[in-house]
This record gives sequence, structure tokens and C-alpha cells, in this order.
Amino acid sequence: MFFDLIKTRRSIRRFKDKPVEKEKIDRLMEAALRSPSSRSFNPWRFIVVDRPDLLETLSRAKPHGASFLKSAPLGIVVCGDASASDVWVEDCSIASMFIHLAAHSLELGSCWIQIRKRDHDQTKNADAFIKETLKIPDHIMIESIIAVGYPDEVKKGHGKDSLHHDKISYNTFSSKE
Ligand SMILES: Cc1cc2nc3c(=O)[nH]c(=O)nc-3n(C[C@H](O)[C@H](O)[C@H](O)COP(=O)(O)O)c2cc1C
Repeated sequence: MFFDLIKTRRSIRRFKDKPVEKEKIDRLMEAALRSPSSRSFNPWRFIVVDRPDLLETLSRAKPHGASFLKSAPLGIVVCGDASASDVWVEDCSIASMFIHLAAHSLELGSCWIQIRKRDHDQTKNADAFIKETLKIPDHIMIESIIAVGYPDEVKKGHGKDSLHHDKISYNTFSSKE
């Protein structure tokens, strides 16, 4: 089942004009809460956004790679409490990917929108822009937004031949055997 899921997984940026049912949102959040975290500190916080006005504002968090959020019915803002764990970035990345994979398993499409280390404009970073928009306290850092909805595009999974097998070595950095 896992391999069927990852063989067909793609990032989806076009969504049908159809809301995501509450049951499916609950399943996505269950997946997020089931993700592992270092020392089980669970430093993540998740903000489920379904208000179109907020999604439109968040789609302007950074100049590139976020605009499609305004046509998504749902965005999950993945944040980490930096005061709770020094590896909140890793923990939030894993949770983001759990949400992405869970969405695919529920026949939803989704795409990661990178927020950490991205600028909103020349005066403000994307994290600060989102903090203002969603009233997030200073010590909570924003890793990503996962845009979610019913897919309105068809993308084939990556074929096995397209995988970068040359990135793998055995025992030492360059050994292929
Ligand atoms: C850490 C990370 C950050 C990403 N940031 C963005 C982003 O800001 N905007 C976007 O449209 N896609 C983003 N993506 C999606 C990638 O562009 C996508 O995974 C990649 O092009 C491969 O396509 P696929 O997921 O369909 O296999 C991100 C993916 C990852 C893992």
C-alpha cells in the first residue's frame, strides 16, 4: 500500500472548487499528530485555514510559489515552537510530509509551500507576514503551508527509470557496489 501511494504521489497546485469535508480534514490532522518528533517533544502547531479571505492573504506570503493557495479550499500552516525543541525544523518537515501523503491517500491533492527562510518583500520575511495575518506569537516559527484540495490536474507518478539511482552509494561515498 505504501509503495502504491508513493508511486503515484505528485505535488498538486490546481484544485476543484469543492470544499474538503470535515471528516477528511480530521484525518489529515490525525496524520499530522501521528508524525514522529525528536524526543517526542511534539513541538509542532497546525493552523487549519479554510477562510477564502485568509487563504488569499496567505497566497501573497511570498512572491513566487504560493499564489495557487488562493484557489485552494484549505491550507494547513505547519508551525514549530522553537523554544520547545532545537530540531523543530526536522519535526515540522516530517509532519508536513505526513499531511502531503495522507492527502494523497484520501484522494486529495496537496503541495508544500516553503515559508521558512523566504521573504515576503524587501522589508519583511514570509514568517512575519503570516504571523501578522494569523496572530501567531513570536516564539512560534512557520515552516510551511500545505495547500490541499480536490485535484483539478492529472499528473503521472515518477517512473522508476526517472529516479536518480546515481545518488546512492554503498558503504563509502562513491562506491556503487
Ligand atoms: C521542502 C519543499 C519546499 C517546497 N516548496 C514549494 C513552494 O514553495 N512552492 C511550490 O509550488 N512547490 C514547492 N514544493 C514542491 C516541489 O516543487 C515539488 O515537490 C517538486 O517540484 C517535485 O514535484 P513532485 O512533488 O510532483 O514530485 C516544495 C517541496 C519541498 C519538499
